[in-house]
Amino acid sequence: MACTAENRARFPLEILDAIVDSWAPGRVGTKLSPALTGVGNFIAGVETLETFEYLVGQLSKRHLAYLHLMNPISVLTGTQVEIVGPGVAKHFRPLYSGSLIANGGYSFETGNALVRDGFADAVAFGAPFISNPDLVERFSNDLKLNPSNPDTYYSGGAAGYVDYPTAAEQVAAR
Ligand SMILES: Cc1cc2nc3c(=O)[nH]c(=O)nc-3n(C[C@H](O)[C@H](O)[C@H](O)COP(=O)(O)O)c2cc1C
Repeated sequence: MACTAENRARFPLEILDAIVDSWAPGRVGTKLSPALTGVGNFIAGVETLETFEYLVGQLSKRHLAYLHLMNPISVLTGTQVEIVGPGVAKHFRPLYSGSLIANGGYSFETGNALVRDGFADAVAFGAPFISNPDLVERFSNDLKLNPSNPDTYYSGGAAGYVDYPTAAEQVAAR
């Protein structure tokens, strides 16, 4: 089988198509992490960008509930790594006509700017939600965020997942 973008994208597309057969496209969303320079467990190659561009274009035709794109950042350090162009949402937005959720290293301000400028329909938060169980309330009231502690990620226990205080608990503890 030839090493083409079409063949590399075959597996995720066949899985999605099988799921959509059971659930209808509007009930199915997917997350992609186009790690274009290679972060975490992923090693990018020269074919990576071409493959993701093809895959995103094919997903666009499927009218899914959403496509969620994660920037190539280190989950452990939050460090943004150099990526093609100005970020995955901006790069792939022209290729995807449905609802696009951007993720990876955003703050309240940068996330809102991305949506305002039309590069995403929504922005998702990962690590800030772990360390701020009341993240939405903190954003709404312009409250300071708890920093997250990567030492407790993937630690196997509850510590660092369920014990960060809400803003109200912090005020009550003062
Ligand atoms: C401890 C931890 C566990 C995660 N587990 C998953 C996972 O199972 N699946 C997934 O798609 N992303 C996972 N992520 C990635 C987040 O969903 C998110 O894409 C990433 O943290 C970047 O967003 P952020 O900068 O808002 O944290 C995890 C992140 C952290 C910090």
